This record gives sequence, structure tokens and C-alpha cells, in this order.
Amino acid sequence: MAFVTRQFMRCVSSSSTASATAKKIIVKHVTVIGGGLMGAGIAQVAAAAGHTVVLVDQTDDILAKSKKGIEESLRKVSKKKFAENPQAGDEFVEKTLSSISTSTDAAAVVHSTDLVVEAIVENLKMKNELFKRLDKFAAEHTIFASNTSSLQITSIANATTRQDRFAGLHFFNPVPLMKLVEVIKTPMTSQKTFESLVDFSKALGKHPVSCKDTPGFIVNRLLVPYLMEAIRLHERGDASKEDIDIAMKLGAGYPMGPFELLDYVGLDTTKFIMDGWHELDAKDPLFQPSPSLNKLVAEKKFGKKTGEGFYKYK
Ligand SMILES: NC(=O)c1ccc[n+]([C@@H]2O[C@H](COP(=O)([O-])OP(=O)(O)OC[C@H]3O[C@@H](n4cnc5c(N)ncnc54)[C@H](O)[C@@H]3O)[C@@H](O)[C@H]2O)c1
Repeated sequence: MAFVTRQFMRCVSSSSTASATAKKIIVKHVTVIGGGLMGAGIAQVAAAAGHTVVLVDQTDDILAKSKKGIEESLRKVSKKKFAENPQAGDEFVEKTLSSISTSTDAAAVVHSTDLVVEAIVENLKMKNELFKRLDKFAAEHTIFASNTSSLQITSIANATTRQDRFAGLHFFNPVPLMKLVEVIKTPMTSQKTFESLVDFSKALGKHPVSCKDTPGFIVNRLLVPYLMEAIRLHERGDASKEDIDIAMKLGAGYPMGPFELLDYVGLDTTKFIMDGWHELDAKDPLFQPSPSLNKLVAEKKFGKKTGEGFYKYK
């Protein structure tokens, strides 16, 4: 109890005369659950910004791979950032890496963390099981956040007893390069939790934006229907996928055409999001499934990561 009180005192901001419960949590210690593509990136940027990070995954092998990936990414960052001073760059890499420890037991490490960021597989049951367990072990003040792209934050938060200290924190891939973070507030998220996460995002050098707990939040709610419209345009035979890609690059100034982007994101991911939205509202014309997308996914052609999607790679 004394530890929890000390921890809480350390974490609340010291200014203002407002009551302690209204004060923001200053996040210093972060636990990132899931050391895949997103989790490794989140751990990297949090550590590079001076936080103490514990990265959790299922096996030591996965964690060793994650740490190796983080080191390679940090070396790239430091080459640019410290072009004039390679020694300072090496020190930055070493210092950042030394701020990241790893564990295969989330429950054993969350007792002293200010923030848990979950980036495990996109599966509601698994996320619920994880958070329900962590809720029993985490300190009272600890904020829980999910990096989910397509699940409702409220339905994840409901597995816990801390819905007021639960929000969405949606990073973008690749995390070290992409500046945006969507901070998702459910009807139960407290203002203090929301503001603490906005401050945390800014401390990472990101630009936070706020959105309610609605399907796709901001970016995916606009991006996914656009990508699906491109597929439908092609399915109707109105234009070739090559011409659609060129048109959006040269006519709209987009860095990638929709089919290139679909292959980059992963066709399985886009189908998963569409299936979820279709389940939510089967009548919405924007949420209708696409035969050609479904066919490619059934053939395990997921895009760049499998070597074939709308285009072939190599
Ligand atoms: N990939 C993207 O572009 C992207 C972008 C934004 C958000 N997201 C979201 O981020 C989350 C993770 O996506 P990703 O692409 O990093 O996935 P990923 O498959 O690369 O990584 C998931 C990791 O979680 C680990 N894991 C699974 N269950 C676990 C558990 N119970 N405890 C600890 N570790 C566990 C897996 O071993 C794996 O290493 C998903 O919710 C996804 O929707 C992904």
C-alpha cells in the first residue's frame, strides 16, 4: 500500500491546487505488451524519449528478435540524427537499448508501471483475457491503453474494473517515422486519463489527435472506405488498378496509389476491418464486402508480406 501511495505521489503533476484525483499522470515507466511490428516500435520511441520500458511477449525468442529489430531501427535513426557526431549516436543507441528490458510474464511486471500499452494480435477475446488478468496486478493509478486498429475500445475496457483509466492509443506503422497518434476516449475514459495520454504522446514527439470510440477512429474510417471504393471501381471494370494508382498519385498527390497501399498494409488486415464493420452495420453501403479482396485473402495472397496481393513482388 505504501508503495502504491509513493508511486501515485511521484506520478501526479505537482502544479495547481486541484485535488490529486484530477491531476494528470506523468508517465515515466511504460509496459508494452506484444513485441511485434507495432509493439517494438512503441517500445523504441518510448525508450528513445527517456522512458523506462518493459517489452512483453510470449517467448524469449520473439523478444530477442524484437530487440534486434529495435537496435537496427535505432542505428538508422541515429545515423540521421547524429550525422555530425557518430559517437553521440552510439551513446544514444546504447542508452535507449539499456532502457528497454524484456519479460514473458506481463502480470509480474505491471505492478510498478504508469502505463500499459497493449499491441498483441487483433483478437477481442485475447485482449480481454490479457487486460482482465493485468487489472488484478497493476497499480491503482496505472493507465491501460490498446493500440487496436479496428476493435471497439469500450469492449476491451469492459474486461477491467478501470474503465476510467482505459483509452485507445493508436499508433501508425512504422511507429518511429509516423508522427500521428489517435487518442481514443470512451464514454468512461476520465479527462485525467485522456490528458495524461495526450501528454505522453507529445513526449514521444508525436502529434496526438482525439477521437470518440467509433469504427476506424479518424484515419481508418476515411482511408478504408477509400481503399474499398478503389477496389469496387476496378471490380466494375471502370479502370485498371495500374491507372487508378497512377491517377491518385499524380492527380491527388498521394505518395502511393490505393492498390499499392492495400498491398503494403496487408489485404488480410483490410478484410478483417471490413468484416468487423459489416458485422456492426450490414446495411451501410461503405461496409460491403468485396469479392476480389475476399478471393485474394482466401488464396493467402496478403500483399507485400506474402509476395503477392493485387501486385506481384519479385
Ligand atoms: N500493423 C499495423 O500496421 C498496425 C497499425 C496500427 C495498429 N495495429 C494494431 O496493433 C496490434 C498489433 O499489431 P502488429 O501488427 O504489431 O501485430 P504482430 O502480429 O506483428 O505482433 C503481435 C505480437 O503480440 C504477441 N502476442 C500475442 N498474444 C500475446 C499475449 N497474450 N501476450 C504477449 N504477447 C502476445 C505476438 O507473439 C506478436 O509478437 C493489433 O491490435 C493491430 O490491430 C497494427
